[in-house]
Amino acid sequence: PRTLRVALLGHGAVGSEVARLLTRDADELAQRIGARLELVGVAVGSDRPDRQTAFDPALLTTDAAALVRRGDLDVVIELIGGIEPARSLVLAALEHGASVVTGNKALLAEDGSTLFAAAEDAERDLSYEAAVAGAIPIIRPLRESLTGDHVRRVLGIVNGTTNFILDAMTTTGQGFDEALAEAQRLGFAEADPTADVEGFDAAAKAAILASLAFHTRVTIEDVHREGITTVTADEIASADDMGCVVKLLAICDQSMDGGAVSARVHPVMIPKDHPLASVRGAYNAVFVESESAGQLMFYGPGAGGAPTASAVLGDVVSVARNRLLEVTAPPERTHARRRLLGIGDA
Ligand code: HSE
Repeated sequence: PRTLRVALLGHGAVGSEVARLLTRDADELAQRIGARLELVGVAVGSDRPDRQTAFDPALLTTDAAALVRRGDLDVVIELIGGIEPARSLVLAALEHGASVVTGNKALLAEDGSTLFAAAEDAERDLSYEAAVAGAIPIIRPLRESLTGDHVRRVLGIVNGTTNFILDAMTTTGQGFDEALAEAQRLGFAEADPTADVEGFDAAAKAAILASLAFHTRVTIEDVHREGITTVTADEIASADDMGCVVKLLAICDQSMDGGAVSARVHPVMIPKDHPLASVRGAYNAVFVESESAGQLMFYGPGAGGAPTASAVLGDVVSVARNRLLEVTAPPERTHARRRLLGIGDA
């Protein structure tokens, strides 16, 4: 049987879990794909990752740039995060003939159009189910399942850290600072929580969701953003009196005439009987309204090594199958940048 060569960039919480599962489930994955996946290199920031490796340590390299330029790779999995060097590595991987699986929401939200154009030029896949809401399948449903429908609105709780904090404030009456400290103590919030609590992480995800839902290209710059740092215990208590909870929502919609697209992230009071109100702790959910399908809700763990690795591996299997068939998923063309700007047809 054929062997497909895989390189992994990044060996953090998600990367190490992906490596472990690729190794543990090699036979099963080979059956599902029809080819074996051979891990040929793992790029790390320093020679010795601070966690055990599930693979031969000889595969470790600190030279990611050389790894993606080998020329014999079938799949590159990018789990480094951030803009550079991730962008250069993804572009080089595509140019050198590999399909790419990434979980990099920041990069996709900042410069997705460059990446998608490169994938189309190279006739390779660029898949990113892990970039939004961890394990929850939401990219493929928007990109494929609902692409014959008209999505009207997407409402998402797409940041687990802020949902955990707001939930803690609601159930205990704590203020923001206290709830944040608790989230950090339990390992939900990063030591530097800025990207989460100021809404940058959710804004990147909103840009990705809006782009897919409305077949346009929305970048993080286009997303209006407010975080949760100014939400007070009093505001949460008065929301409660009114039968509401406060959630940080990513809201993506389009005007009724199919014109301007809007994407924004801010705290919202939602009635307790709305499905999104029941999303507790660090969980995520995405609520989609479309013309024919009606209301859909996608719910599950939005972060963490194993849940995010599930989304990554799903993409790996799917792009590997495409490699065997020598096809790619349909390119992500954007036919409607003007819609975002609200400029009518010429
Ligand atoms: N920091 C993110 C969250 C997880 O709290 O949801 C990864 O996107």
